Amino acid sequence: MFTWGVSTSSYQIEGAASEDGRGPSIWDTFSRIPGAVANGDTGDVACDHYHRFEEDLDLMKWLGVNAYHFSISWPRVLPNATGALNKAGMDFYDRLIDGALSRGIEPWPTLYHWDLPQAAQDRGGWNNRDCASWFAEYAHLMAERFGDRIKNWVTINEPFCSAWLGHLYGVMAPGIKDLQTGINASHHLLLGHGLAVEALRQVSSEFKVGITLNFTPAITLGDSADDALAVKLADGFDNRWFADPVFKGSYPSDIVEAFGREVPIHSGDLNVISSPLDFLGLNYYFRQTVEYDAEATPLPYRQVRTPKVERTGMDWEVNAETFTELLLRINKDYAPKEFFITENGSAWDDEVINGKVDDPKRVSYLERHLDAMFKAKNLGIPISGYFAWSLMDNFEWAYGYAKRFGLIYVDYETQKRIPKSSAYYYRERIKS
Ligand code: FCB
Repeated sequence: MFTWGVSTSSYQIEGAASEDGRGPSIWDTFSRIPGAVANGDTGDVACDHYHRFEEDLDLMKWLGVNAYHFSISWPRVLPNATGALNKAGMDFYDRLIDGALSRGIEPWPTLYHWDLPQAAQDRGGWNNRDCASWFAEYAHLMAERFGDRIKNWVTINEPFCSAWLGHLYGVMAPGIKDLQTGINASHHLLLGHGLAVEALRQVSSEFKVGITLNFTPAITLGDSADDALAVKLADGFDNRWFADPVFKGSYPSDIVEAFGREVPIHSGDLNVISSPLDFLGLNYYFRQTVEYDAEATPLPYRQVRTPKVERTGMDWEVNAETFTELLLRINKDYAPKEFFITENGSAWDDEVINGKVDDPKRVSYLERHLDAMFKAKNLGIPISGYFAWSLMDNFEWAYGYAKRFGLIYVDYETQKRIPKSSAYYYRERIKS
């Protein structure tokens, strides 16, 4: 059976940030830095999913999805990152998991979707190699408690964003701007992934375990050898830096060389990182256009605007054909046993008119990307599921609540949920 789902993540929807013993996360800290998040928004309340999850599960049931991809908030269950479990936090995920199962919806957790406990950051965060072991310890505890009801586990969501956006560009928590820290964080995130795979497999050999990587294909409009190099570097930085170690057990040598920095690899690390997986979670949003720029750091290229392309409310290019090509390419280069599209979606300026939200552009994006995915599937790529990003509008990281990705509209004043036209479309598509 094909897996039809929706995705969310803990910090983006749960709220209840200081309730029931939850510890602060790096996003609680980061969102309080003036100017870090649009409009000074924080995840303190978000969609209040912590209190409204039953209603949200009902909406999922109405949509007809058979799986719910959410993330567990590490600081909610382990406020000090390690040590004693927070009972109330664990109970929440018990209720969520049981609530999903009782509606015929398979719970599909990610263990890390960027909300690192601040307590871990205070000890160096992902720059500290020990963070990988803390993460594995946490993974083990989750598997022991929830493993009787969870079959599919995603270790880490988009290490690209954690490593590069959080530690190199500083536009996401923890807001560090340093190449070496970014490289360290990327390696320790991947090591954490590998150790977590081992920890999960220790609990049960029945689990299906994977990682979620976001892929951003690159093209250039230039025809020089330098522009071709720019494409290769962009692909290396965004895609190969994370997929190569996981699937091939090595970092891409061209990028290691171009960085000119040390990757803090200890003997055996790459074996751990490339421990066999049951599936790849693939997130796809857009394609980028790049050109060579000798002055750019950390690598000599920059993104440019392609003229005359359709763009979403994030200013991201819409390219559904690229999605098909990407799936074929990832299958060829990395041959994961199985693919799940763990995120795909678009933000638009939605408006409530007479109590309804009509979002034809999201419907069109969804339709074209589903078609593109099924095209790849029909060409023999082992794609077993699709999760739309996102169930509902939520805290879109540094963009705060200004960007809406939901199939369901959230009125943040009243917490009223309004299914958009795209939710009706998705529902029909699943039925058919
Ligand atoms: C992905 C993130 C997800 C959401 C979407 C729009 O990179 O994993 O949390 O922000 O982008």
